[in-house]
Amino acid sequence: MQSAAKELKLGELVAFPTETVYGLGAVATNEPAVKRVYLAKGRPSDNPLIVTVANPAMVARFAEITPAAQKIMDAFWPGPVTIILPIKPNALPTAVTGGLSTAAFRMPENRLTRKLIELVGDPIVGPSANSSGKPSPTTAQHVYHDLRGKIKGILDDGPTTIGVESTIIDLSVTPPAVLRPGAITPEQLEQVLGVPVTADHHHVSAKETPKAPGMKYKHYAPSAQVLIVQPDEWNQALAWAQTRSDVGLLHATFVNLTAAHRDHFGKKLVEVGADAAQLSAHLFAGLRYFDTLDEATEGTVKYILAPAVANTGIGAAYMNRLDKAAGHTYFATAEL
Ligand code: TXA
Ligand code: MG
Repeated sequence: MQSAAKELKLGELVAFPTETVYGLGAVATNEPAVKRVYLAKGRPSDNPLIVTVANPAMVARFAEITPAAQKIMDAFWPGPVTIILPIKPNALPTAVTGGLSTAAFRMPENRLTRKLIELVGDPIVGPSANSSGKPSPTTAQHVYHDLRGKIKGILDDGPTTIGVESTIIDLSVTPPAVLRPGAITPEQLEQVLGVPVTADHHHVSAKETPKAPGMKYKHYAPSAQVLIVQPDEWNQALAWAQTRSDVGLLHATFVNLTAAHRDHFGKKLVEVGADAAQLSAHLFAGLRYFDTLDEATEGTVKYILAPAVANTGIGAAYMNRLDKAAGHTYFATAEL
């Protein structure tokens, strides 16, 4: 911890745990250090970074805390919601904001990380600590796999609990807009804010200027093609999978498998749990798993069957990430 804080202060990059996914830290006010975050991740430089704080007072250095922001902080911080606020002129380096007049602020639940930021004395940027285009990391091992040799260290606090990135709420617009779904739902935000919020997660095309710049990039993509399976399509999907040897399965307990199915999938099966919260926690690790199978002994996985769930609560965040990983491909309509 002490040495991680020291390295950050020296301008080095250190990955850190949060309740959602691991983040890649650099001191947010140190522009050269922040620039190296983009290099390490291979991230497009027009995609701004989250400013990770230890407490709300750190936000006040850079932005005016509006009554709406105060309500969200009181209700959900520390926790998995990121707030977009207008910032004071030149309060943060362009490398952090992508030149926008707003910035994204987040106070994570993880105590080690908040202690780390307190020791540093300044907020740290915190994009997910994956190579750009790979699933976000939910363990220190994922970070090591993607970024070894490119960063100074990883603060390891075991697997993250939520598994999908924070909800992003833009308070710089009226009405407030949810730019990315996460564990905190639009309904929860509306209840606290006392006003309706918009939550339009339509697919942003390459030509469009998205509200959260990160929404336009291909995300979370494993090497295999993910096929989303609706609850009533599992019999068909499993029958199809049994005719091939290159299909992997993200297995939710609500999908009934026979011994023959289990035998057929062998190592090409990952258990992802019983409900939307468990599926969210295991999705990214599950997708990464298929990239690590040894081609020589286990064969290649060309397709991954993955369960759809209802688009409510954290299920909306799970479906949003799954849809991106699948490039919007559903088993029922895919050309196979
Ligand atoms: O849960 C999380 O939020 C994780 C953990 C590590 O804290 N971090 C994370 O960061 O997911 P990242 O960089 O992968 O996603 C941040 C998103 C991007 O889509 C980016 O475009 C958007 O936030 N963003 C950042 N600043 C913004 C701004 N001023 N206006 C709109 N969108 C912004
Ligand atoms: Mg990310």
